[in-house]
Amino acid sequence: MSTTFQLDTSTSRANPTPAPMRRLTVPKIRARKQDGAVDEPLVMLTAYTARQAQLLDEHCDMLLVGDSLGQVIYGLPSTIPVTLDMMANHAAAVVRGSYHSVVIVDMPFGSYEKSPEQAFESASQLLKASGAAAVKLEGGEAMAETIAFLSQRGIPVMGHVGLTPQAVNVLGGYAARGRSDSEADKIVGDARALDEAGAFAIVIEGVVEPIAVAITEQVAAPTIGIGASSKCDGQVLVVDDMLGMFERVPRFVKKYGDIASAISDCAAQYAADVRDRSFPGPDQTYQPKK
Ligand code: KIV
Repeated sequence: MSTTFQLDTSTSRANPTPAPMRRLTVPKIRARKQDGAVDEPLVMLTAYTARQAQLLDEHCDMLLVGDSLGQVIYGLPSTIPVTLDMMANHAAAVVRGSYHSVVIVDMPFGSYEKSPEQAFESASQLLKASGAAAVKLEGGEAMAETIAFLSQRGIPVMGHVGLTPQAVNVLGGYAARGRSDSEADKIVGDARALDEAGAFAIVIEGVVEPIAVAITEQVAAPTIGIGASSKCDGQVLVVDDMLGMFERVPRFVKKYGDIASAISDCAAQYAADVRDRSFPGPDQTYQPKK
């Protein structure tokens, strides 16, 4: 699959921006944290389509093609059924729609846990098919060997600790993690193991705040919080959540818009126009030349 734009006509919705920006790189993201602190917080959002990527790109340092697309795009009950093909196709679209942000693609459940070799097969397939620069995978200490294996073989890895949605069947739900001392110690230990294994950044999801602060202080890699702490080295949100596409969102989401109402209002207006025949009007129809 080609990851470069072929179309450049005035009528194509896929037009690239007129003045492409230079794309950030994984080493540049990693280097933003020096001596335990970032110059300014890193900005990451999820993206799943080319048009979303075009709109988000200039505002972000990283675009994450999250396996949350299972719920957000496909209406699945969890991220468990998401496949490598789904991830590769959406990641390719996001790469095509972006010029500036580093694009990171989630490894779906079942594609990496068995062995470092299995992870390498899946990750290389994702990067080849999409043109993304890095992968993200969930899990703590048990994934450290895999992260080292991939990183040493040319595949940058973002870690993900705390609430790890692919483990929903083990965790029993999506509640915040780390309320007991032993669980808190385990999550901090997990993050340290990923850091030592060479993760270039670590997502911390759904943990009580002191855990996120402790991890951010103790690891060299930038931490990216979601339901974690403003003291993390960066933040991420699921884009459809922050745009207001869903009525029900996790407590840690801040809605920056109400796109669901805007879409519903547009659809209602369109339906009314069709039904009273005011659409299409003279501006939207072709007449024979006189
Ligand atoms: O899949 C996803 O969107 C994620 C983010 C919530 C970090 O993993």
